Amino acid sequence: YKRITVKTLVDMKANGEKISMLTAYDYTMAKIVDGAGVDVILVGDSASNVMAGHETTLPITLDQMIYHAAGVVRAIERSLVVVDLPFGSYQSDPKEALRSAIRIMKESGGHAVKLEGGKEVKESIKRILNAGIPVMGHLGLTPQSIYKFGTYTVRAKEDEEADKLKEDALMLERIGCFAIVLEKIPAKLAKEVAESISIPVIGIGAGNGVDGQVLVLHDMLGMTHEFHPRFLRRYMNLYEDMTSSISQYVKDVKAVEFPNDEEQY
Ligand code: KIV
Ligand code: NA
Repeated sequence: YKRITVKTLVDMKANGEKISMLTAYDYTMAKIVDGAGVDVILVGDSASNVMAGHETTLPITLDQMIYHAAGVVRAIERSLVVVDLPFGSYQSDPKEALRSAIRIMKESGGHAVKLEGGKEVKESIKRILNAGIPVMGHLGLTPQSIYKFGTYTVRAKEDEEADKLKEDALMLERIGCFAIVLEKIPAKLAKEVAESISIPVIGIGAGNGVDGQVLVLHDMLGMTHEFHPRFLRRYMNLYEDMTSSISQYVKDVKAVEFPNDEEQY
């Protein structure tokens, strides 16, 4: 595929091709992620944690999300760019939700938006879709509701919550979402949901019975090192590599080993 669109992703599911998705929050990283062939780049509100050091995703603003997304969009040639609607930018009413989504599309150039929740945000999603803006749903562990959950542990282990999640997924498909993220739920439930709908289900901590996977870039590169959920596979240990490179630089400067004769004018 030359350029990934929301239509491409639905076709990929129909053809049984798994979808790869990673987060990115800036130009330089997005250029690498896009060049490496990732299908979907998520400008996640996890930028609140990863980029700004907040404990939760709640503080990040719409303006800040737009700033991150605009840098990502400038870098990409192939990937689909999905941008999270941050906490507070869509919950109060559908018109506000649409205004926020329009700002993301106009000011960042992103290709789609993602928002958390099921039937609580149904009217907002419909408004956004009516304006021609593609929407990705997000169910299961929805971090913007962390103060309601009280913990980041696995969701939908009980029948009641699992039944609501299944209904919400069907509803999101019915009203026209192009994909759904399922975060931190039992693999069996995620597989059942993926098999019950024709739009792609992208999992994080949701097993391999879904249509694609997403991870936070800085986590999978091993830049963050104090976070060890079971679902996280670290493909590098950048934390260690960066620390040793940077301390080597410090040593070289102190010892006047840098710059050498070739590294000056
Ligand atoms: O903000 C984020 O990084 C996300 C993914 C974990 C799905 O929403
Ligand atoms: Na998010």
